[in-house]
Amino acid sequence: MSTALVITSSALGETSVSNQLVQDAVTGLRAQDPSLRIVTRDLGSAPIPHITMDAAAALRGAEPANAAQAEAQALSNELIAELKAADTVVIGAPMYNFGIASTLKTWFDYVLRAGVTFRYSESGPEGLLKGKRAIVIESRGGLYSEGPAQAMDSQEPHLRTLLGFIGITDVTFVRAERLAFGPEAREQAIGAARRVIQSEFLRAA
Ligand SMILES: Cc1cc2nc3c(=O)[nH]c(=O)nc-3n(C[C@H](O)[C@H](O)[C@H](O)COP(=O)(O)O)c2cc1C
Repeated sequence: MSTALVITSSALGETSVSNQLVQDAVTGLRAQDPSLRIVTRDLGSAPIPHITMDAAAALRGAEPANAAQAEAQALSNELIAELKAADTVVIGAPMYNFGIASTLKTWFDYVLRAGVTFRYSESGPEGLLKGKRAIVIESRGGLYSEGPAQAMDSQEPHLRTLLGFIGITDVTFVRAERLAFGPEAREQAIGAARRVIQSEFLRAA
C-alpha cells in the first residue's frame, strides 16, 4: 500500500487556493490508487513551534537534557517518520513575502536533520530520503515564473533546495500565480493549475 503525506501551510483555511489545489492533487492520487493511505499535516491551522535553543540542541543529536529538548526531539522524530513512510509528498505552499510561509519553513527546520535525513560525506552533503516523489502547489499573488519579478522568487528555488538536500529530487511544481491581478486572472490561474494537476496524473497513470 502506498502512502501520501499531504502538508498544507496556508493560513486561509477553506478559502486558500493552495489548500483547494492540494485537494485536487489528492483526488488525482486517490483515483490512481484507491487504497492510497493519506497522512495530513495542516501547518496553517496547527502550526508547530519555532526552533528554540533547546530544540536546536535536540535536533543536533544531543541526548535531551530537559523536557523542552525531549519534546522537540519527539516532534522531529514524528515528522520525519511521517515523511519517511511516504511514497509521495504533496505540499501546499503559498507565497508570503516572496518566500514560503514560516509554518512550512519550521516544518523543514524539524525535518532536515544531519545523520537522519541527510549526511555529510567526503564528497559533500547527501540526501538520505531517496526514491520519493513530491508535488508542490505554489500560490502567489504576482507573476514570478517569467518577467521582471522572476529574481524575487525565493519560494520555488528554496523549496527545490530544501527537498533536494534530503534527497527528494523528483519534484513537480504546480504554480497558481497572478492571483492578485483581478478576478479574471485569478480564475484563469486556478483553472490552469487544475489542468496541470490533471495532466500530471494522466501522464503518471
Ligand atoms: C502575509 C502574506 C504575504 C504575501 N506575500 C506575497 C508576496 O510576497 N508575493 C505575492 O505574489 N503574493 C503574496 N501574497 C499573496 C498570496 O501569495 C496569495 O494570496 C496566495 O493565494 C496565498 O495562498 P493561499 O490562497 O493558498 O493562502 C501574500 C499573502 C499574505 C497573506
